[in-house]
Amino acid sequence: MKRTALFVLVALLLMSVTAAAKTPTIGCAIYKFDDTFMTSVRNSILATAEGRAQVDMVDSQNSQAFQNDRVDMFITKGVDALAINPVDRAAAGVIIQKAMQANTPVVFFNREPFEDDMAMWDKVYYVGAKAEESGTISGQLIVDYWLANPDADKNGDGVLQYVMLKGEPGHQDAELRTEFSIKAVTDAGIKVECLAEDHANWDRVRGQEKMAAFLAAHGDAIEAVFANNDDMALGAIEALRAAGYFRGDKYIPVVGVDATAPALEALKEGTLLGTVLNDAKRQGEATLMLSYVLAMGETPTLENTGYEIVDGQYVWVPYAKITIDNWEDAL
Ligand code: GAL
Ligand code: CA
Repeated sequence: MKRTALFVLVALLLMSVTAAAKTPTIGCAIYKFDDTFMTSVRNSILATAEGRAQVDMVDSQNSQAFQNDRVDMFITKGVDALAINPVDRAAAGVIIQKAMQANTPVVFFNREPFEDDMAMWDKVYYVGAKAEESGTISGQLIVDYWLANPDADKNGDGVLQYVMLKGEPGHQDAELRTEFSIKAVTDAGIKVECLAEDHANWDRVRGQEKMAAFLAAHGDAIEAVFANNDDMALGAIEALRAAGYFRGDKYIPVVGVDATAPALEALKEGTLLGTVLNDAKRQGEATLMLSYVLAMGETPTLENTGYEIVDGQYVWVPYAKITIDNWEDAL
């Protein structure tokens, strides 16, 4: 009797020890919770973690100082890996130093660290999407429209007059989407004139305010609206609606990036011309899988994460063009 009880006790103890060892803890910090696209990434990380890892997720409230404090706390707590969406991508170096000292692997996502910082340590990874690609696709959406609609050149001068709503200054997606969207238009042989551009920091309300200001200054001279993301495009659409657009035949093409649920609604109602799928689900999944594998003391590979590791440190999730014809692909 006694021996059986002892045996059962030891077996139970062993089971709990191995179970504990198999559920690593990942310290995850998001630049801010109040961001439409990052909310989808966050949900994907948590869904992928189920049954694999314990994720301790914090809102950095758009403050790098606050995020650095949270990273210190994660390290003090002894998390097995870090998954960090930096507030300021230039701060990655500081985070890598902290992580190296504690020998805690770190996966950055959505905000790409500089190459020099990535080169500091081999237990540093980045999960994201090629910003240039999203720029090129959003430019192509406007090219398609321009070529199919001779009326798109409202003043008939053979030049596309546009305005640009940019994301946060310094963010690779803001800089490269701006540059490559226009490059796609000029590469198609279309002349362009930038009437106005301004940062609206990924934000819908700010997008609306900036678009209202662009309209006050340039009115109907604007022939197309580029936005670095859907929230700003949706804000612009609200300002345009208030100025009488999208009624009767008063139309202007507006393009965004992300393919968020409200953007797909706008596509269906005919206000948003097109968007670019920024695959939150797969970016979140890759972030969790890499962090998990690293937390288990292994090296991420295609086999153990499901994602190809490029140049030893990067996972690139592809973008896709989304229009009224294929919006279901973004679901
Ligand atoms: C971009 C996305 C934006 C915003 C930003 C946050 O990739 O398109 O909507 O979420 O990331 O860093
Ligand atoms: Ca024109």
